[in-house]
Amino acid sequence: METLNKAHDLSEPLTAPVRLDLSITEQCNTCCPYCWQLEHTKVGNLTFEVLAPAIKDLCSWRPLYSINITGGEPTIWKGFEEFIFLCKNEGVKNIWINTNAIRLANMSFLKKILKAGVTAIGVSIDTLNPEKHLELRRFPFSKMQKALDNLYEIQNTEGFNFYISLNPVLNKLVTPEEVAELKDYANSREWGFFCQAVFKGPALDKYGITKEERDARDKAIFAKDDCPDPSQGLLEVVQNTDKFSRDTHPLQKPGARCLKGQTTLKITSNGSVRFCWNGPNHIGNILNTPILEIWKGAEAKKAREYIREKECRCLFDCDIYESLGLEWVYLNG
Ligand SMILES: C[S@@+](CC[C@H](N)C(=O)[O-])C[C@H]1O[C@@H](n2cnc3c(N)ncnc32)[C@H](O)[C@@H]1O
Ligand code: SF4
Ligand code: SF4
Repeated sequence: METLNKAHDLSEPLTAPVRLDLSITEQCNTCCPYCWQLEHTKVGNLTFEVLAPAIKDLCSWRPLYSINITGGEPTIWKGFEEFIFLCKNEGVKNIWINTNAIRLANMSFLKKILKAGVTAIGVSIDTLNPEKHLELRRFPFSKMQKALDNLYEIQNTEGFNFYISLNPVLNKLVTPEEVAELKDYANSREWGFFCQAVFKGPALDKYGITKEERDARDKAIFAKDDCPDPSQGLLEVVQNTDKFSRDTHPLQKPGARCLKGQTTLKITSNGSVRFCWNGPNHIGNILNTPILEIWKGAEAKKAREYIREKECRCLFDCDIYESLGLEWVYLNG
């Protein structure tokens, strides 16, 4: 922790990052109407040949504690299984993927990616209602059901050990009771549950919810959970734009320190690298510069100073745990 604080004060990279968020492609095999990723047919710039040296370089300094692979739909990216295997071989401890689950309906694909090294799967599912699912996710619920059944089966098979979370996007079409039902379903299988509201994207008007509607969904989840104090617990994990704003975010308060410039990296499908989705601008591009040169470079230093001087303004989706809660990784990892 001392090293991290020193690195923060000096705006220097005294250690390697511990977390990498990778938006590996914008391509997708479906077209959810509210999705903020609009280029579902565009082939991005990231290839296995571009990413492999970046992962090797980062891990040669210190193996990443976690990599979170999202998109677009990561499971359709060419070289996906090989890439997971490479991350595992380089010593990445946690390999998390976010997926629409279409490819998980194929048991042999699911087994392959788990054997390759995936340790956690976040499944995007908004409702158990087949008609609403079809409207929101644009593929038949029978396929989603098959994927969920495969996950359940394989999780109960010897030799497979991984974490599953169901991750709905709260929206106008799905009632509070249906969100609570989904949470119950996750509980019944001992899976995690994480939700946020639709907050940007092309169909915000049609599917976005008001604060009152969001609160109704929070309440329904609590009622099912029998939570004694509805101001505690799950309420904190239902993300929405009004939970944290530019003015109320904990990292913007006097004395708070954001350690993203010392702990995390984000890479998007065009190769651009930054510390935070909402913080300073990009600090380089892995298509033309090795990742550790970017991490140690002049643009990165400027961005760290920008963060240290609190010139950026956090939004609600600046995951504060990325910035504040990683010290135990340094202490124990
Ligand atoms: C962009 S997707 C990429 C990964 C994968 N294709 C999936 O759907 O899980 C990442 C997450 O963002 C959510 N998402 C997409 N558009 C959104 C929006 N406008 N507001 C809030 N969340 C959104 C998706 O439901 C998904 O859980
Ligand atoms: S599956 Fe994911 S990336 Fe694809 S359209 Fe839906 S939210 Fe967007
Ligand atoms: S926007 Fe907030 S979370 Fe992101 S880098 Fe800046 S201070 Fe950190």
